[in-house]
Amino acid sequence: MEIKEYINIKPFSSLKVGGQFRYFSVISKIEDLKEAINFAKEKNVKIFVLGGGSNIVFSDGIIDVLALKIEMKGFAVVLESDGYTDIKVGAGEIWDEVVSRTVDMGLSGIESLSAIPGTVGASPVQNIGAYGSEIKDTVTEVEVYEITTGKIFNIENKDCRFGYRDSVFKNEARGRYIIANVIYRLTKSNPSIPKYPDVLKYFEEREIYGPTLSQIREAIIFIRRNKLPNPNEIPNVGSFFKNPIVQNGVADNIKRDFPNAKFFALDDGFTKVPAGWLIENAGLKGKVFGNVSVYDKNALVLVNSGEATSEDVVNARNEIVKVVKEKFGITLEQEPEIV
Ligand code: EPU
Repeated sequence: MEIKEYINIKPFSSLKVGGQFRYFSVISKIEDLKEAINFAKEKNVKIFVLGGGSNIVFSDGIIDVLALKIEMKGFAVVLESDGYTDIKVGAGEIWDEVVSRTVDMGLSGIESLSAIPGTVGASPVQNIGAYGSEIKDTVTEVEVYEITTGKIFNIENKDCRFGYRDSVFKNEARGRYIIANVIYRLTKSNPSIPKYPDVLKYFEEREIYGPTLSQIREAIIFIRRNKLPNPNEIPNVGSFFKNPIVQNGVADNIKRDFPNAKFFALDDGFTKVPAGWLIENAGLKGKVFGNVSVYDKNALVLVNSGEATSEDVVNARNEIVKVVKEKFGITLEQEPEIV
């Protein structure tokens, strides 16, 4: 295991923003963790676990951590029954390659999460979600390495405390574990069309009524391609803000001025308001803030026009939050992490 120093962060950031990691190492097997953690202790720096870097805004300057680029691989069927198959997947596998593989195996459960950038290890941290699916519906257990004790054990779904783009790994257990493997339970039953407007429309237009898993995957990839810029071409971190959940009264007030707005009523008096809609209707779609812009095809995404610093990103974010707050009285919350 090799530990490098002063490593440029940009290649590890899908937003292409960030300074340098003080220390950096690639972890390809769980046995390497002990040595890396001892090194960090010796140097008195924190461990930072790096997956795909597709949902993080890294700071400029030197980040005083040992960054561990997790490349622990593996894909194995660990349980098989008439109705379902459990697979155990290494944290360093590329998420979308896993989706593709399970679709080819005829297994349903994660096909709607096609084309999400990043690695398997990030999937439970973030409770990744799209088109009505969230990873909390398929994860059975997460295998972790506990940093302070070196113990390896499994955390069950219920103890992951999944929420909207949230889990125990972002809260109480932050910095405590390194995820080594994730176990997913996928079904052998026929897939159903995700009940999500864009997806329903896609199949209606093509008159496809009982799509196969591959057709659903294709649909999702097609829909995402039109809304989300490819980070390899236009640096971004996907949705930059969470969709705020507000009291019905707040949403009703907005609806008075915008009767055609489509909001989503939840249970017990709350409404989910699309952040993209708020930003667009605050007049910010396509708006350029120096090196950072609001993507012109989807106001929920901020893109780096090439030379942005994290300060540029934070300034653009603050300006957007301010304008949306002034116009609609709702405070947007950032979705990617800042490190
Ligand atoms: N909208 C606008 N203007 C815009 C963008 C969106 O009016 O510029 C409106 C749309 O017309 C639609 C509504 O906002 O009525 C919702 O848009 P969309 O269906 O595209 O989904 P989203 O709420 O913008 C969420 C997730 C995405 C996920 C999609 C599909 C969050 C923060 N984002 O976006 O997740 O792919 O739903 O399920 O929850 C991510 O987390 O990085 C991500 C891309």
